[in-house]
Amino acid sequence: MNAAVKRGRAIIALLPGDGIGPEVVGAARIVLEAVAKRFGHDFEFEEALIGGAAIDAAGTALPAETVAFCQRADAVLLGAVGGPKWDDPSSTIRPEQGLLGLRRELGLFANIRPVAPHPSLAEASPLKADRLTGVDLVVVRELTGGIYFGAQPLERTEDGERASDICSYTDREVERVVRVAADLARARRRKLTSVDKANVLETSRLWRRVVTRVVAEDYPDIELDHMLVDSCAMRLIQRPAEFDVIVTENMFGDILTDEAAVLAGSIGVLPSASLGAATGGLRRGLYEPIHGSAPDIAGRGIANPIGAILSAALLLRYSLGLEVEAEVVELATHATIAGGRLTPDLVTNGTRAATTGAVAEEIAATAGTARRIGTPAGTAGYA
Ligand code: IPM
Ligand code: MG
Repeated sequence: MNAAVKRGRAIIALLPGDGIGPEVVGAARIVLEAVAKRFGHDFEFEEALIGGAAIDAAGTALPAETVAFCQRADAVLLGAVGGPKWDDPSSTIRPEQGLLGLRRELGLFANIRPVAPHPSLAEASPLKADRLTGVDLVVVRELTGGIYFGAQPLERTEDGERASDICSYTDREVERVVRVAADLARARRRKLTSVDKANVLETSRLWRRVVTRVVAEDYPDIELDHMLVDSCAMRLIQRPAEFDVIVTENMFGDILTDEAAVLAGSIGVLPSASLGAATGGLRRGLYEPIHGSAPDIAGRGIANPIGAILSAALLLRYSLGLEVEAEVVELATHATIAGGRLTPDLVTNGTRAATTGAVAEEIAATAGTARRIGTPAGTAGYA
């Protein structure tokens, strides 16, 4: 995988999925193509089925060919899975199994979700603008353990049916994700907040013991604090600027990151990277916007492509080791936001909204050309 990238060649698996997935993956692809052209890389894109689209075409949410292809690819870019068509709760085949299965099959245990609201989008957030000043946080969510992957026995009892979802964690599962989060914190403001529910849950008490030990042993330079998940939910809205890196278990991370999206003005702008163990300095990864399939707006050309485009930037950074290219995409995205070309979810002042394609084309045009542009912090950078 690394050798291919060094030669400037990479195979990128595209998994458009359902709802707005195909639109935003298409948008991210044109940005990646523009970057490849400018920097002389040879990116090969190939699409595979997942989610509801795979259920319709192949009868399963995660065809074996999709898994095999993703294992061969240098990185995977995914749109979203799910939608009302496949929502029947009594069905045993569900689109989400595709995504969960792929995370497990690829061993993607660390899900990185950065939240850094763009200053010109403060109006789009329901929070007061002064609360958003200085917000720059990353949630590291454990992604292949906990209640998402425990046994789910369904039994008949004297009182009717009984359903259970088992939440379990091992030392090793906690330790490896904490290390990812602590490494990230070390490259940032060196603050790590571990979120759990240790006043109630045994898994959380184990989580807290492991985090405390790992940080004490190997990250003495990191300032660590522990926060209960209910308190964290409140703090994220009250004083979000105080967070640097948050590390938490699977379901808490799922919930807290949708909440954190409110800080950024729209869930449509948030990217994510799901990473496995490092091999030779680079990591296998799956990249996806956190917004989901948004079936209500699918096919209308109004979906916000920024979450997918920033996910493509993370793909360049983490799986292909192309840091400059990643920054170019991020700067071009910031420039487009600052310039006011926004999809309807972000438009607040009655100006005309842009389409998914128009936003993507502007970002691709900027990222594909060498010119000096402003960054949100007012410093200058090259995009
Ligand atoms: C997410 C999503 C998924 C999750 C769903 C689609 C299974 O909400 O990536 O946050 O719960 O992990
Ligand atoms: Mg979620």
